[in-house]
Amino acid sequence: MLDTPHPTPVAPCLDQQKLATALSGLHFIGGRYVPAISGQSFAVVNPATGIEVARAAEGDAQDVDAAVRDAARAQKEWAKVPARKRGALVHQCAALLKEHQEELARLIALETGKALRTESRVEAGVVADVFEFFGGLGSELKGESVPFAPNVLSVTVREPLGVVGAIIPWNVPMLLMALKVAPALVAGNTVVVKSAEEAPLAVLRICELMNRILPAGCFNMVSGMGPECGAPLVEHPLVRKVTFTGSVETGKIVAKAASQKLVPVTLELGGKSPMIVFQDCDFAKTVSGALTSMRFTRQGQSCTAASRIYVERPIFDAFVAEMKKAVDGMVMGDPLDEKTDIGTIISQGQFEKVQAYIAEGKATAGATAHECSAMPSDPALKKGLFLRPVIFTGLDGSSRLVKEEIFGPVTVIQAFDDPEAVLAEANDSDYGLAASLWTNNLKVGLDLAHRLEAGLVQINQNLVVQANLSYGGVKSSGLGKEASLEAMLEHFTHKKTIMVNMG
Ligand code: NAI
Ligand code: MG
Repeated sequence: MLDTPHPTPVAPCLDQQKLATALSGLHFIGGRYVPAISGQSFAVVNPATGIEVARAAEGDAQDVDAAVRDAARAQKEWAKVPARKRGALVHQCAALLKEHQEELARLIALETGKALRTESRVEAGVVADVFEFFGGLGSELKGESVPFAPNVLSVTVREPLGVVGAIIPWNVPMLLMALKVAPALVAGNTVVVKSAEEAPLAVLRICELMNRILPAGCFNMVSGMGPECGAPLVEHPLVRKVTFTGSVETGKIVAKAASQKLVPVTLELGGKSPMIVFQDCDFAKTVSGALTSMRFTRQGQSCTAASRIYVERPIFDAFVAEMKKAVDGMVMGDPLDEKTDIGTIISQGQFEKVQAYIAEGKATAGATAHECSAMPSDPALKKGLFLRPVIFTGLDGSSRLVKEEIFGPVTVIQAFDDPEAVLAEANDSDYGLAASLWTNNLKVGLDLAHRLEAGLVQINQNLVVQANLSYGGVKSSGLGKEASLEAMLEHFTHKKTIMVNMG
């Protein structure tokens, strides 16, 4: 239970700046807020204004060691709590997070620049849903009985792995954290999360809220830089499972370090998700689906963003025109304003990276950049990292914009004539996270769905991560699944066999 006194408001706090200030400079370890041992901190900046809204504790190996040791101590007791009781506690956490949905939404909007109505509030809601879902799965941690011999009882039991080290990114930090923490806890593990540099606040508040219900040490959080704070977590000898969401490059570093200790690792590493549109689709639904699929409301900062759109030639021009019109109608502005559809890019570094892709696209012979929406006019936002969404046409599979994950509001639309050729192009990618098909010919749709190299294929929809649907990619998009019962069983437990010979 949470040690008092603690520096943050007990009731939901809708003043996001007040809450950000209260959360400044702190990790959450062993049931209480603690500063970084080194005393160091780093700035958390509101990307819509460029203003520093908080400091975050700059953790290093010492803080990580303290957190992992507390988690290891707590795990011994937590594993003894009956599985259904663990689930019930996680379920209670979900209820508390629901009470704090608006608070968390405002806080995440402040630190990430994601629009409150279209993104932040939605994320906060899905987070509670994920905890609620896994909270109900305690009694599913079942084993099997194995036929062996009449006088031998042979059974398997599911045991927790121990301390889980979870490393998360900044794009959907609360949800991506929930997908790791919820199943890990219900399965009897304890967790140390390393938050993303750009978005450490809302996840820290969630950790505090859940610690009002969970025993101390079960859920710990440190903030800091990747190499100084993330790497020691992966390498810590008491961390018996690593789960990571982020870039391919960092994912490989994490997997290599985990392999040195021979501990299992789950990786979710992004994608370059194709959206394939046939002329017999429901046109209006598909255009609106393209906006959702591309995650324009999240500035395209999504691992499943439909950043390669293939449209059957007869409807290509009409599709591009309608899509541009639809994106033009989206309002870019203050993330906390209810009217806003599109907020900002997360950081100056990402802003420049995305701009470099746009410049490269514009410089490619034959390419057209359709720039959409209007920049916000409010002078308070003039330093904000706003970037107009861009739809490219006239690029082909040789372009870096078609091959690489841009993680910005940039999509490339290409025309196709032949389903086999478009399938080959869609599969010609290092990535394999998600794909969508838009057609009323379900025979063709289902056939292609089976042959697309992706962890998730949706026909005539492109929903975000949902509790109970296994989520995770093939090829460079990662290893393992999240969000489902199978994910909890396969990635957060090991199966022990017990045999009793009764003579
Ligand atoms: P990143 O992969 O470097 O960062 C993700 C997390 O890993 C952060 O918490 C970071 O501190 C941590 N980290 C970094 N180096 C580490 C190390 N050596 N050991 C342990 N942890 C480490 O991603 P970044 O730099 O924020 O974004 C770069 C690109 O990655 C984006 O442009 C995008 O293409 C991709 N990305 C993909 C995401 C996804 O959902 N799969 C999420 C975020 C970024
Ligand atoms: Mg990085």
